[in-house]
Amino acid sequence: MSVGNPDYRDSGLVFPPGFIFGAATASYQIEGAWNEDGRGPSIWDTFSHTPGLVVGGDTGDVADDHYHRLDEDLDLMASLNLDAYRFSISWSRIIPAGSGAVNQPGIDFYSRLVDGLIARGIKPIATPYHWDLPQPLEDAGGWPNRETAYRFAEYAAVIGAALGDRVDTWTTLNEPWCSAYLGYGSGAHAPGRTNSEDALKAVHHLNLAHGLAISELRKVATNDPLYSVTLNLHALRGVGDSGGEAVRRIDALANRAFTGPMLHGAYPADLLADTAEVTNWDFVLPGDADLIHQPIDILGVNYYSTTAVRLWDGFSEKSSVDGHKPAAGTSWPAADCVEFVRQEGPYTDMGWNIAPDGFEDLLLAVHHEFPDLPLMITENGAAFPDVVHDGRVHDVDRIDYLRRHVTAVHRSIEAGVDLRGYLAWSLLDNFEWAYGYTMRFGIVRVDYDTLLRTKKDSAHWYAELAASKRLPD
Ligand code: FCB
Repeated sequence: MSVGNPDYRDSGLVFPPGFIFGAATASYQIEGAWNEDGRGPSIWDTFSHTPGLVVGGDTGDVADDHYHRLDEDLDLMASLNLDAYRFSISWSRIIPAGSGAVNQPGIDFYSRLVDGLIARGIKPIATPYHWDLPQPLEDAGGWPNRETAYRFAEYAAVIGAALGDRVDTWTTLNEPWCSAYLGYGSGAHAPGRTNSEDALKAVHHLNLAHGLAISELRKVATNDPLYSVTLNLHALRGVGDSGGEAVRRIDALANRAFTGPMLHGAYPADLLADTAEVTNWDFVLPGDADLIHQPIDILGVNYYSTTAVRLWDGFSEKSSVDGHKPAAGTSWPAADCVEFVRQEGPYTDMGWNIAPDGFEDLLLAVHHEFPDLPLMITENGAAFPDVVHDGRVHDVDRIDYLRRHVTAVHRSIEAGVDLRGYLAWSLLDNFEWAYGYTMRFGIVRVDYDTLLRTKKDSAHWYAELAASKRLPD
């Protein structure tokens, strides 16, 4: 343990009383039961069932079968000493057609989940939208259609009325960057569309959906919950002389396109100027700024790695961003002049560089910009190719990754950041979107043939951290 620890491999650090250690998952990635008990189709069902879009033709049809193994998974969480569990709600289970009739079995499932968490002393943190838009709403235009935001508000009112007496924290959207730019820009994610203006329309309508949902939840929640949104804020590093300008452009698209309207009440002028050739933003209507700019209590931050950029000089080999955020080019409307530079390792199985210093830099920067806003790490973790040996998984790489990033969290707190908790991604190995089941992020292994859960060494390590609030040796 040392104050200036340069490699973040610390131990013995003690976290403040009340600091939350938990784990996160998302509905489509774990639940399975894709067509049971009245659930309707979502864009991820359609995408994964389309040949060639997901590695190995994998789908979320069964996934971890969490839907049928709820009690076992709740007991697992309790055995890991989790203070909180972040799950997402499948809109298609609650309102199968995206609007209109409510499906009571869907409500009952999440109600049982929430009750089961509370009974075990685990705080429920609910994400109403983690990318699985009901297919009928995509057929009506998806997120580029303004109406989708109003449908989301109606859905939020329904789940708020059902669960708003027990959910501890509502984090409206997970990573709207991915929904907009990967869903409608690069097409790497569902619904797989590739149109730059549509991607920017989606950005705006997701922002609007966030604001409208917060207003609806506030009307019906009775237990004074915390309100939040989860953003994958990009930790940007400029490379060379042009790095500063490249960072400015990508920061506008990736970060300030969301924090601007949600937290400052306006889109940044440089974003509008940079994207002027793609759109005149006339889909932003008078009054939208006030609808979006709702007070929140805590900001959810997801962090995995850093992003390095410089201006494209036309000579060097253009490299793609990384595995999960692929296809430079149309992922980033009006950013053809920016080159994403491959960074130094070490890397995780996703090809993402491991950079706890970038985590600390990001948290300090967010705190500097929003000094009065508490933060929660709503996702952080790593995929590695685990090996089962005598029924155990000695995932030293994952423990090392978690140790370094939890150390970065501690250093940020020491530096004055109001950081309330850390949620590991993920509780279970699961369906990693376009990578199917090839990427294992869980601290608990899932055997996809038998669906057997096995705690990896990282799960034992994390359980000790969660119980003691002290970074284990
Ligand atoms: C995040 C997603 C999450 C998972 C992790 C690895 O971007 O929110 O569902 O895929 O990446």
